[in-house]
Amino acid sequence: MKPVIVASKDAKEAQKISEIIAKDHKVAIIESSNRLKILLNISAMVILDHSFYEQYGLSFFRSLLKNPHPPFLMLIPVHDIQTIVDIMEIGMHFTPKVPDYQKLLRLTANNILDQINEQEQRQKSVLDLKKRVEELEKAASEEKNGLHRKASPEAKPHEVKSSILDEIVFVFNRGEIKLPTLPQIGIKFQKMMDKDANLQQIGEFLKQDVAISSTLISVSNSAYYRGITENKNLGQAIGRLGLKSTKRYVDAICNRSLYATKNKKFLGYLEKLWKHSLACAYVCQILDDSLVTLDLDSDTFTMGLLHDIGKLFLLQIMADLQLKKKIGDQVEDSELLNTANIHHAKFGAALLKKWKFPESFIRIVSYHNNLEAADSISNALWVVHFSNLMVKSMGFSLDGIGDAQQKEIDLQDTESARHLGLDASMIEGFKDKLSEFMEESQGLFT
Ligand SMILES: [Fe+2]
Repeated sequence: MKPVIVASKDAKEAQKISEIIAKDHKVAIIESSNRLKILLNISAMVILDHSFYEQYGLSFFRSLLKNPHPPFLMLIPVHDIQTIVDIMEIGMHFTPKVPDYQKLLRLTANNILDQINEQEQRQKSVLDLKKRVEELEKAASEEKNGLHRKASPEAKPHEVKSSILDEIVFVFNRGEIKLPTLPQIGIKFQKMMDKDANLQQIGEFLKQDVAISSTLISVSNSAYYRGITENKNLGQAIGRLGLKSTKRYVDAICNRSLYATKNKKFLGYLEKLWKHSLACAYVCQILDDSLVTLDLDSDTFTMGLLHDIGKLFLLQIMADLQLKKKIGDQVEDSELLNTANIHHAKFGAALLKKWKFPESFIRIVSYHNNLEAADSISNALWVVHFSNLMVKSMGFSLDGIGDAQQKEIDLQDTESARHLGLDASMIEGFKDKLSEFMEESQGLFT
């Protein structure tokens, strides 16, 4: 376990900071710039007291941060705006040095370290996958040259695949791909809800994340929730949204961060998939709020948000493999999208299993496109099934294979609409609400 360095010129202050950080991490206190340079590369994080910064100045830290370094978090008096701007420009984090700063400092530090851990795990997953693909490519070229590829003992003959895309599915089915991790803040929020935390405690917890706080305030002022007065702070926003909806939108904000890739060509697809998922979640929410007699005890909003998570992960793997030339440019996008379309349910189900989601979520991911395969259909599955079809019919889709025909679909005539008792005028009302929400949500979840 790498230590967290606490750098301060004030011994009392250093002690105070280290006591808080030592609750979760190993701590080393330092007082000089030389010690900081020596310990920098073996530390998990550096927490700077502003006294230390004032002693050595901006240029010292600017040169220090030019090289690879752990995250820096600085405790800084709130009125010192110029220093806040200076340190943010060179890539440091900050937390305000208010009289009772310990709790906030602990939350901020843990949040930063959680994010770094997530990134590292994700990078490791991709590296593992690349290694595996290289092995498979080597085996395939040996086979081409007359050498027989040895199938491992567990592999059944029909599982031996030829193309890289099939190999992705092949290695996944054999459990050889490490899966990404769920954003920590969402997990912690769920734990707080499980412990019956009240609105005030939730507010204190969410305050640490500026993006979440500001998005929740905007959502609470949107047409769906708008009150007489405009909400200006997080407490007011959570008060208006209530715990259930706050949880929904925190899930949405956390999920948004998963829709990332370095492959610019795939960004457009991920963007469309995000809009599809958000739209689907929102229609689930409308149905949940409208069809009170259904008595949905599941969190259908989050189910809608996650129903295509397998597609997201598959597209990200493909994007990365193509960027690294493991998948040739000659492979048509339609082929990649088709592969994602065919296999996403299985991928998604395994991902949610890994994230320890309840069985009810896994069933949604597995059967939302294939009701016939489900031995029983829950109300939540009917809701997600209908929402998925409705948002596709309105153009919120990947526009890949399998989506085009949905635009022509008669929604009222679908099995799920009939089961849920939805008539044409209700569906028109849902469509209006969705259009308004999607318009309003432009730029909200970034
Ligand atoms: Fe979908």
